[in-house]
Amino acid sequence: MRDPDRERWRTLLPAGRVAFPSDFSWGVASSAFQAEGGDVPNDWVAAARAGRVPPNPGNGFWERAEDDLRLVAGLGLRHYRLSVEWSRVEPERGRFDERALDRYRAICDAARAAGVTPWVNLFHFTHPVWFAERGGFLEPANHADFLRYVEHVGRALTPHASHFHVSNESMVYVLAGYLLGQNPPFVRDREAAYDMTGHVLRLHAAAYAALKSLHPAPFVATIEVYLDPRPVDAGDPAQCAAAERFDRWYHGALWGALATGRIELPGRDPEEVPGLAGALDAYGLNYYSSTAFGPDGVGSFADAPDAPVDAMGRSVFPRGLEEGLLRVAAALPGVPLLVTENGCPTSDETFRIRYLAAHLGAIARARGRGAAVDGYFHWTAVDNYEWHYGFGEARFGLVAFDPATRARTPKRSASWLRDTIARAGFAPSDVP
Ligand code: FCB
Repeated sequence: MRDPDRERWRTLLPAGRVAFPSDFSWGVASSAFQAEGGDVPNDWVAAARAGRVPPNPGNGFWERAEDDLRLVAGLGLRHYRLSVEWSRVEPERGRFDERALDRYRAICDAARAAGVTPWVNLFHFTHPVWFAERGGFLEPANHADFLRYVEHVGRALTPHASHFHVSNESMVYVLAGYLLGQNPPFVRDREAAYDMTGHVLRLHAAAYAALKSLHPAPFVATIEVYLDPRPVDAGDPAQCAAAERFDRWYHGALWGALATGRIELPGRDPEEVPGLAGALDAYGLNYYSSTAFGPDGVGSFADAPDAPVDAMGRSVFPRGLEEGLLRVAAALPGVPLLVTENGCPTSDETFRIRYLAAHLGAIARARGRGAAVDGYFHWTAVDNYEWHYGFGEARFGLVAFDPATRARTPKRSASWLRDTIARAGFAPSDVP
């Protein structure tokens, strides 16, 4: 019988077998605050107290990391992106909490004991209230605070972890916090967003150099989400111009800076930043969906009117991932590529498996077209706090948890991914 829902996925799913090399890296991604939650002294907890974002009790990772790491290892996932919650390790300016650092050391050790490589991120959207109150990254005098934290945590964790990144999606941090006013500190100011772009890029160069000067020098990746801006109507000059303008800033300034060391922002003099060119050992591209610039503003792009839509209202569009990987490969030639986040918010496991299959197919196509993609990290392992969506329907995990007991239950997608990893690929008939 013809399944009308399956029909909507037909053009999105691969038509032939999808295969990956045996040394392809398979992993999962998470962030400290989203998984650990809790009453930490950071800007998101302060915003939750003010009623501006949902509260975050966490999913129990802080206490149960060892179990979670064994669980993902059992699925064949050998890499785990986690982050350090700055407000836990430096709750007051200049006072480092060695007990919190001990816990992160133990988490990294538990990962390695389970056969999983920990990838430590130092900044994933949240920072201590004391730092926010001093003006955050917008105030150049505060940059030394961040670098002191990076150096301290880098020194503390390098014996326990060999893979780091300075930040997650610094361009989204700027976009959501300084241009759109959605995330703390809720600023809506184009000039502030351009200032912040310069700050995060300069800080990236400085923090990369600080991490690389540790012994032994770790592997340090850059991780940014690809937003794939597209006009809804490619024949409409205003929509094309809006998508291009966004792309030039959001992707263009970033890739240009990493390739040449020069920061070029609209209406500003170009700035050469020593140490910025090539300040990455790999580029981690995160991808969820594409961004549409249409007559009614910005939305989610799809090229079919009946494309499947996830629980956050985003259309499924795997071609954006394929093309994004090819664009980064061209912008940063020779830099190894990874997909460091991809996944979907849904409570429908058939949807999640199809989404996974469609995007793994896109990665395989990009590889076939010359993009050197070495790995795939699924977002996420255990359902966690999805920022403005809290712990609602926006469930991205391969594993569910019981909010009362915190007990974990792997979902159907977890077994599907385990089998795909074991077989280094899948056939169309493996996809429901
Ligand atoms: C990414 C963020 C991550 C998570 C996923 C769903 O852009 O890096 O924290 O919320 O989206």
